[in-house]
Amino acid sequence: MTPDEKLKTAHFLDLAADFLGSGYKSQAKDYQFDENNVPQTPEKTADDTLEQIAAEIKVCRACALCEKRTNAAPGEGAQKPLVMVIGEGPGADEDAAGRPFVGRAGQLLDKMLASIGLSRNKNCFIANVVKCRPPGNRDPLPEETAACAPFLERQIKLLQPKFILCAGRIAARSLLKTEETLGKLRGKFLDLEAAGAAIPMLVTYHPSALLRNEEYKRPAWEDLKLLRARLEEAGLISGASKGEG
Ligand code: URA
Repeated sequence: MTPDEKLKTAHFLDLAADFLGSGYKSQAKDYQFDENNVPQTPEKTADDTLEQIAAEIKVCRACALCEKRTNAAPGEGAQKPLVMVIGEGPGADEDAAGRPFVGRAGQLLDKMLASIGLSRNKNCFIANVVKCRPPGNRDPLPEETAACAPFLERQIKLLQPKFILCAGRIAARSLLKTEETLGKLRGKFLDLEAAGAAIPMLVTYHPSALLRNEEYKRPAWEDLKLLRARLEEAGLISGASKGEG
């Protein structure tokens, strides 16, 4: 039985128990279902955990991206990160691995982070605005980012990152609900209103863009230095740890 079928069965048993008054309660109580009996993403607040969110993402059917995915990539990294990196969505490598940013762009992202003393193992959490691969690596559709947004919101609420590093135009436009160009959005700290707080967010080039166009490497490095300076100013990272993986 697939996880989705299990959930549907659990939901059916709950309905039957309600009807029969048996007091039986399955795990389906944590899920909401639409009129077609499809599990929906609940807006969790209390007792939420990253593992719970990841488990829900893996069986999520809230948008059409679930139909073509091999694995969802919920996100990974430090539990109380200095920086949360938010990209656009999984590509082919991430879909195969069920992990974010593990392909060529991910390897470059790891190098970019390491250059300013950050790492996904120590002090960053890496996620995407959509957790399932858009077919053919097309941009996620507004309804797909909207369906996935509650998961990102819950992750941000739990992680409480000190800063967000937004990778690329697509993620920036989706998070900031704007049509501005990357050129206008990058190179400065903006406030991202998320999880009841205003989190300082720096937008920079997506590592895939840097792989395609070397010219973006210099301005991307300027962005990374800005982030590094803010982390140092806030006493969150020391000058001595610069360049550590
Ligand atoms: N590009 C993204 O935006 N995210 C990934 O996880 C991989 C590539």
